[in-house]
Amino acid sequence: MFKILLMHGPNLNLLGWREPGIYGTVGFDEINTRMKKVAEENGAELRVFQSNSEGALVDAIQDARNWADGIVINPGAYAHYSIAMRDALSAVKLPTIEVHLSNVHARDEFRHKLVLSPVCVGVIAGLGWRSYLYGLHALLAMLAEQKK
Ligand code: DQA
Repeated sequence: MFKILLMHGPNLNLLGWREPGIYGTVGFDEINTRMKKVAEENGAELRVFQSNSEGALVDAIQDARNWADGIVINPGAYAHYSIAMRDALSAVKLPTIEVHLSNVHARDEFRHKLVLSPVCVGVIAGLGWRSYLYGLHALLAMLAEQKK
């Protein structure tokens, strides 16, 4: 059974309420419920972690090396400047898919730079809550292929 860490960065706990025109109306808890269900349907276990603090996110990435097979991460604004999170992902070497609800490339210029992406397997952006869904499907498919 694959074990997946679903990690959310700052302000994502406000999903559903926060700028729904940009991030959609599906709430934070609802996204996690849907993701857990999809994981379960695919024989995987999903653990959710959200924090507004960079250090707590780094700690959770480090801890994941003791139990997780892969990570789906929406780093929120830290995607654009957290070298500490990038270094943590590099260190643990777990296959990681970066996801964003909004199409960051179509937004402010400061959102175009993604410092974690080079150490992720891939990036999915702009598909609303489904960015998480497709990220999880991609990660599980990759893990299954590697196991063969
Ligand atoms: C986001 C995009 C980031 O630029 C922003 O800071 C967020 C959310 C997204 O999911 O679209 O907090 O990661």
